Amino acid sequence: MIGTGYVGLVSGACFADFGHTVVCVDKDPSKIERLNRGEIPIFEPGLDQLVADNVKAGRLSFTVDGSDAIRDAEIVFIAVGTPTRRGDGHADLSYVYAAAEEIAGLIQDFTVVVTKSTVPVGTGDEVEAIMRRANPDAQFAVVSNPEFLREGAAIEDFKRPDRVVIGVEDERAKAVMAELYRPLSLNEFPVVYTQRRTSELIKYAGNAFLAMKITFINEIADLCEKVGADVQQVAKGIGLDGRIGSKFLNPGPGYGGSCFPKDTIALVRTAQQYGAPIRLIETTVEVNDARKLAMAEKIRTAMAGAGGDIAGKTVGVLGLTFKPNTDDMRDSPSLAIIPALQAMGATVRAFDPEGMKEARHMLAGTTFVNGPYDAADGADALVILTEWDQFRALDLTRIAGTMSRPLLIDLRNVYRAGEVVADGMEYVGIGKP
Ligand code: UDX
Repeated sequence: MIGTGYVGLVSGACFADFGHTVVCVDKDPSKIERLNRGEIPIFEPGLDQLVADNVKAGRLSFTVDGSDAIRDAEIVFIAVGTPTRRGDGHADLSYVYAAAEEIAGLIQDFTVVVTKSTVPVGTGDEVEAIMRRANPDAQFAVVSNPEFLREGAAIEDFKRPDRVVIGVEDERAKAVMAELYRPLSLNEFPVVYTQRRTSELIKYAGNAFLAMKITFINEIADLCEKVGADVQQVAKGIGLDGRIGSKFLNPGPGYGGSCFPKDTIALVRTAQQYGAPIRLIETTVEVNDARKLAMAEKIRTAMAGAGGDIAGKTVGVLGLTFKPNTDDMRDSPSLAIIPALQAMGATVRAFDPEGMKEARHMLAGTTFVNGPYDAADGADALVILTEWDQFRALDLTRIAGTMSRPLLIDLRNVYRAGEVVADGMEYVGIGKP
């Protein structure tokens, strides 16, 4: 497994847990040192135990020098990063290609090389060409096997997936992949075999669809506010239609994270490049970007009336990560909303259960505090940005007593207006009358 980021580390640990022998390789020596000491570089529920158990059982190990492991492997996964390339929004594939070249120089017997990183259509062809050039005699097949796991629920998603997608055109490689995923197919989780390019596109189409679904409900929420309707009931009312489905219809401050923002832009670029622009996703990207700033305006309006002034006021913020149960700050809405509030002259006191270590480097001028009550202390508004469980049952009466103005702005609809008001606070949610 080349790359010990989110996907590499979780996949490696889960494959080991299936009983396979897995060596995780990463160029970053400090990361490997930490992993060998049993320290997990990311916060993901259950991952520390899973890694510890499988290391102890001798099925999982970590190294900076992957040569021996790659030489002996039946399957080599490429799970390195594919960040957005500066300037043009395409996925940066340099790490993928470097890995392909390295693998080509090492393998001896027939080896299945799998791209697990999210890679644009045609990357498998390019990986194959690079490997062929680097080692014309090598025996290998390149397979696409995208990963659909969600942060915070990664192990569950890996072990109980809605489906596994395998893009493979070589029969020998298909048999190897079937053996690898046998524990899942035994449990009757569907394994979909397709052509490689189709598999590569499935990943992008899936993420783009989900991003569009969230963006749709966010815009419906805005309309609900204008017409006096309740978005949660609209979501329920449409979600019960099996063709629509009830998941991913929670309005919020806009999607963030390591996948949706990057993958939607990359799909837009690919589609434009091939002359088949996907305007729905182009718009989704635009609407989601604009939404983050609109949320700062919503906070300003709630605090000071339309166009009002919040200079010198204090905003308490609960939640900084892009979603709960992760310490990941990548493309989190907080990174746009907090600086916008600060630009309006507000002071921000923020708390997040796991994200503050990273947020400290990203949100200059913010005061980081030790808990939700601390964030509310003396503030003119308390804003929920991320729906961590520990924010769901706050003592609102206590909070109301310490705030300069007891105003709760709930951008995740965690609370019900009536209950909040009964506890002595004003309430503003998303998409509610
Ligand atoms: C996503 C995909 O779900 C996963 O299949 C893929 O492999 C990687 O990208 P992840 O980024 O971990 O996973 O988080 P996810 O739970 O999908 O949430 C993404 C963003 O959408 C978050 O910012 C979340 O707050 C937001 N979201 C999600 C909403 O605003 N409303 C919803 O109803 C669902």
